[in-house]
Amino acid sequence: MSDDASETDEADQVGVDHPILRRMYSLSGDVEERTGIYDDWARDYERDTANLGYVGPALAAARVAELVPPDTEVLDAACGTGLVGVELAQREFTAVDGVDLSSGMLDVARQKGIYRHLAIADITRPLPAHQGGYGAVVCAGTFTAGHVGPEGIDSLVAAARPGGYTVLTVLSHIWDARGFPAHIAELTQRGAARLVDQRAGQTYHTKEPLTCWVVVLQTP
Ligand SMILES: C[S@@+](CC[C@H](N)C(=O)[O-])C[C@H]1O[C@@H](n2cnc3c(N)ncnc32)[C@H](O)[C@@H]1O
Repeated sequence: MSDDASETDEADQVGVDHPILRRMYSLSGDVEERTGIYDDWARDYERDTANLGYVGPALAAARVAELVPPDTEVLDAACGTGLVGVELAQREFTAVDGVDLSSGMLDVARQKGIYRHLAIADITRPLPAHQGGYGAVVCAGTFTAGHVGPEGIDSLVAAARPGGYTVLTVLSHIWDARGFPAHIAELTQRGAARLVDQRAGQTYHTKEPLTCWVVVLQTP
């Protein structure tokens, strides 16, 4: 689902009044438009999301730390300015790579000095090969209204090594509407992933009633 009308409806369905969220949740599926908006937002992203009480990075990083030890090679997919990297560094992870569409967001992440490698990549396409694959792939805040649909899960799972985990947050409002349950069922049925668990109703923004799912998949 990437047509403009459907995704404008997504912002209405989420029903938030905050101007930044309405703008982000109303984005069309146009990747260049999304990239440009994040390039423009990069400098203020962390201030604005802190004001919203956005805790997706902490949720996702905590789940990664429950699954794998801190010497695990981790790919932070759609890493943005590096909020997940900060959370992983606090949990003593030292081998974290990041990819994102937006060079502006990556520049802010780079300044943190906590990522091993950072690169531009579209997570809906095959990701840059990494020898042996990652022990964990994490993606916070990007399976959300106006952004990436469930088809984006496939390349994340493929970037993990056999036995490696993929941890993602999915905004609750798009979970059924964008077909996440069906896509995850299809992935598991064709043997591309094993569903470890999926937790509903996780607090996503502390200052608004927004929740997410946290999904863990394992690459066979
Ligand atoms: C809401 S931000 C989340 C950033 C970070 N993971 C966090 O939790 O703060 C969404 C990020 O996804 C990136 N993004 C959106 N679509 C993408 C895609 N198809 N491939 C890679 N990055 C994408 C944007 O550039 C932006 O940095």
